[in-house]
Amino acid sequence: MAPRRRRPGAKKDDEGPGRGLPSTAAEPAPGSGLRGGALFLLVSAVLASAVYYLRGGIGSEVGVLSRFQAPLMTDLAEFDDDYRRRMLWGTYRPGLYFGLRTRLPKSLLTGLAWFQPASRDAMNSVRHLAGAPPGATKFGWLRHDGANFGIQEVVDGNMTIKTSWVKHHHPESGIGGDWSVRVSAWLREGAEPALKHVPFIFYIADEHGPDMTTGILGLRANPDGKPTGRGGRVLVGRNEDLGDWSLYLQCGKDTQWDLHSTGLPLDHYHNVTEMMQGLVFMGVQQQLKQQREGQSSENKVRLVIPDGWWAGDGVEPNAAFFQVDIVLPGEFEFVFLSGQDEQEARLEALTGSRLTSLLESHTTAFSKRFEETFGVGDAADVPADFAEVSKRALSNMLGGIGYFYGSSRVALEKNNPEKVREYGPSELFTSVPSRSFFPRGFLWDEGFHQLMIRRWDPQLSRDILAHWLDLMNSVGWIPREQILGEEARARVPDEFVDQQPTVGNPPTLFLPFLKMAKGLTDPGQRAKEQADREFLSQAYPRLCHWYDWFLRSQGGPIKGSFRWTARDATVTKELNPKTLDSGLDDFPRASHPSSKERHLDLRCWMALAAEALATIGEALDMPLESYQHYRDMSEELRDLQLLNALHLDTNTSQYLDFGMHTDDVQLEWVCCEYHGEERGMEKYLARKEYSSPEPRLVPHFGYPSLFPLFLHLFDAGDPMLSTQIDLLRNPDLLWSDHGLRSLAKTSPFYGQKNTPDDPPYWRGAVWINMNFLALRSLHHYGQLEGPYKAKAREAYAELKRNVLQTVVGEYLKSGYIWEQYDDVTGYGKGCHPFTGWSALFILIGRDAY
Ligand SMILES: *[C@@H]1O[C@H](CO)[C@@H](O)[C@H](O)[C@H]1NC(C)=O
Ligand SMILES: *[C@@H]1O[C@H](CO)[C@@H](O)[C@H](O)[C@H]1NC(C)=O
Ligand SMILES: *[C@@H]1O[C@H](CO)[C@@H](O)[C@H](O)[C@H]1NC(C)=O
Repeated sequence: MAPRRRRPGAKKDDEGPGRGLPSTAAEPAPGSGLRGGALFLLVSAVLASAVYYLRGGIGSEVGVLSRFQAPLMTDLAEFDDDYRRRMLWGTYRPGLYFGLRTRLPKSLLTGLAWFQPASRDAMNSVRHLAGAPPGATKFGWLRHDGANFGIQEVVDGNMTIKTSWVKHHHPESGIGGDWSVRVSAWLREGAEPALKHVPFIFYIADEHGPDMTTGILGLRANPDGKPTGRGGRVLVGRNEDLGDWSLYLQCGKDTQWDLHSTGLPLDHYHNVTEMMQGLVFMGVQQQLKQQREGQSSENKVRLVIPDGWWAGDGVEPNAAFFQVDIVLPGEFEFVFLSGQDEQEARLEALTGSRLTSLLESHTTAFSKRFEETFGVGDAADVPADFAEVSKRALSNMLGGIGYFYGSSRVALEKNNPEKVREYGPSELFTSVPSRSFFPRGFLWDEGFHQLMIRRWDPQLSRDILAHWLDLMNSVGWIPREQILGEEARARVPDEFVDQQPTVGNPPTLFLPFLKMAKGLTDPGQRAKEQADREFLSQAYPRLCHWYDWFLRSQGGPIKGSFRWTARDATVTKELNPKTLDSGLDDFPRASHPSSKERHLDLRCWMALAAEALATIGEALDMPLESYQHYRDMSEELRDLQLLNALHLDTNTSQYLDFGMHTDDVQLEWVCCEYHGEERGMEKYLARKEYSSPEPRLVPHFGYPSLFPLFLHLFDAGDPMLSTQIDLLRNPDLLWSDHGLRSLAKTSPFYGQKNTPDDPPYWRGAVWINMNFLALRSLHHYGQLEGPYKAKAREAYAELKRNVLQTVVGEYLKSGYIWEQYDDVTGYGKGCHPFTGWSALFILIGRDAY
C-alpha cells in the first residue's frame, strides 16, 4: 500500500467556476486561418517567456502561477454545446466503485456503497472507495464505451454485484439527458444464506452546497420507509446548471426490499465514506436505545441509516442518502430524469425490460465497434481469450476516465512551507492509471493511454489531451501529477501533494501527437483528419512552449545533453538518489547527482519531441521557417556520432547515462538520530561510500539504455541496430520469459531496496509501457528493408508472445491487469487493477503501433 513514489501536482484556467457549461457557446475555431493564428501565438509565447525571464526565472511566482496565454484547447469548435451535453454525465468518479458526476466544476454527485454483512466487523465494512478495504473485493468494468454505458462486476466475498449504467438522450430530456443504473446482487451457490440481507446506499448530492435556495427539494421518507412519489419517485431537485431533475427508484419484481433515507446539508465530499459509516452508526444507536427503553421488541440490530430529513436553520439538504436493503438475489434501479416533461415515458424507457434491452443493444454495439477498431477474433499468435480480456481492459481504461476540478499545490521553493501556493482552479478530464491506487491524472502515463483511447474514440482522446495542454503555465510547465480538489487530495499523503515547477516528466504526449501528424499526410484518412488538423494547429504554440521549457530547464552541461534536474544531491539515506521526474523512480543513475549528469532517456524523449514538432509543422503546411528549428534539432538529436560521444560505452556497445559515479556504496547502520521522547536516539541506515565518485558512464544497463532503439534512432542498415537487438535479447541483461525486465540481472542494484521502506520498483520488474516501446520499435524495423529485418521480426514475435502470455495469463488467474510483472515468476505485482498503460497489450496483440 506504499504510495507510489511519483509525486502529485497542478493547474489551469482563469475563468474559474462556471467555465465549460454546456450552455456556453464555444468560440469559433480558427479553422483554416490556422497559420496566421499559430504565428501570432508563437509571438505571444516568446513575449511570455521574455516576461518570465525578466521576473527572475523558473522560481518566479508570477510566471509559475499564471497560465500560458493562448486560446484554450478546450474551446476548440469541436467541443461545442452539443458535444458537451452528450459528454456531460459519466462515470467520472473513477476512484469509487460506482460514482457519477457531470463535467462541471460544481456538479451533482452520485455514489454507491454497501456493507458486507458477512464481515466480522459488519458495521465498519463499508465499500465505497474503489479497492477499499484492500483485498475485500475484486472489481472491474466488463464493458464500457467511454460515453454511453458501462457494465461492471464486483465480487465481494460470496456476493457478486453488477452495476449497469446507461445514458439516454430523449428529445424531452433536459440538459445532459437522463441516465439509469441497475444494481443486481446475488450469492455464490452454496454460500451461507443467513447473510443474504445486504444494505446498499445510493446517494446524490449537489456540490453547489446547502445554502442554495436551489438545493434538493426532498420527499420526506414515509413512516413505512416506502416512497410514494409517482412511479417510485424518491426525490426531485433543481440544480443551478441543469435545472429541474427527478430521481426514481424501482426494485426488481421478485426482489424483497426495504428503503430508508436521510437528507442532509453537506459541505464536504472527500469523507462521504466516513459520513455513511457515521449514519449507520447513528441508526444502530437509535435501535439500541429503543430496545433499552422497551419501544422495540426486536432483539437484533440492523445496519440502517436513520430515517430523517434535515429541517431548520434556513438550510436545505443538498445530499440525500437512500438505503435500499435487498434480500439476495435482488436488484434495484435508480433513474435520473432531467427536465420535467414526459417523465412517464422516459422512466419506462430506462427501467425493467426496456433497460435490459437498451443495455443489450449497447453491448452488441460495443463488440461490433471493437472488432471494427481492433480486428476480429484471436489471431494465431495471441493467447486464448485474448479478445475478451482486451475488451475488458479497454473498458477499464475508458471506465477509468474522470473529471477533476480544483487547485494544485505548487511549492515555489523546495521544503519551504511559506512558499507553497495554490495553482488553479483547473478542470482536468483524464484517464487514470489505477482506480484504486492512482485515481487521478499522471502526465507521463497519459501519452500511453491516448495511444489506445485515440483508436477507440479520437474526439474523446483529443478532449483529454486538450485538458492536459490547457494546464500549461506561462513558463511552459505542466505539472506531472494532478491532485485537484479535496476528494483527490484526501487520497494522497501530504508530503506528495506539492508540485515543483522545475520538475519535468517524460513528454509522452508527443507519441499521440506524432501519430496524429503522420495521419494528416496519410491519403486514406482525408475525411477524419480535419479535426486532428485543427487540434494540432491550436496546440502547436503550446507544444513549442513545452519543448522550450524542457530545453531551458532540463538542458545538460554539454550541447545535446539533458538531465533530470530534480535529483537531490543531499539525500544520505537512499542507496541511489531517486529520479522521480524521469518516471523510472528508483532506476539507478549516477551515485552523486550533479550538474555534470547526462540522462539518456531524456535526450531520446527530446529527440521524439523535436521530430514531432517538425512533423506537425510540415503536416500543417506551415512556413518552413516556423519549424525548421525543430527539424534541425531533431537531426542533431538523431545524430549517432553525437549520441555515441555522449552516451556509448564502446567496450560493451551499451548506451548509458553519464555522471559522477561510484558503484562502491552500501546502506549501513549509523548511530544515531533523535526520534522523539518515546523512542529516543536510534540507529538508522545511511549510505556509506567506499570510493570517490568519478565522472564516467554509469554502468547500469536497463530500460534507458534501449531508448535509442525504442525511439528509432538507428538506420535499418546500421550494424549498431543489430548490436542493440542482441543486447535486448541477452537473458543475463533484460530478456526474460515474461517480457523485458527494467534493470539488468547483472546490476548490483537488481532487486535491491533503495531504503528499508522502499522496495525495488524499476529494478527488475517487467513494465508494459516499456515493453510496448520495445515491441513498437522491433515491429518498425521488422517492416523496413535491411539486413536486420528478419532479426527484428524474430525478436518481435518472441517478445510479443512472452508479454501477452504474461498479461493475459495473469488476468485469467487473478482477474486483474497489474502495474508490473515479476521477471522471474511472471506474477502480477504492485497495484491493481492497473488498466493504465498495462492495457497496451491490446495494441501489442493487434500489432497496432
Ligand atoms: C462463503 O460461503 C462459504 C459457505 O457458506 C463460507 O464458508 C465462507 O466463509 C464464505 N466466505 C465469505 C468471504 O463470506
Ligand atoms: C469531513 O471533513 C470536514 C472538513 O474537513 C469535517 O468538518 C467533517 O466533520 C468531516 N466529516 C466526517 C464525517 O468525517
Ligand atoms: C573499456 O575498457 C578499457 C580497457 O579495459 C578500460 O580502460 C575502460 O575504462 C573501459 N571503458 C569503460 C567505459 O568502462
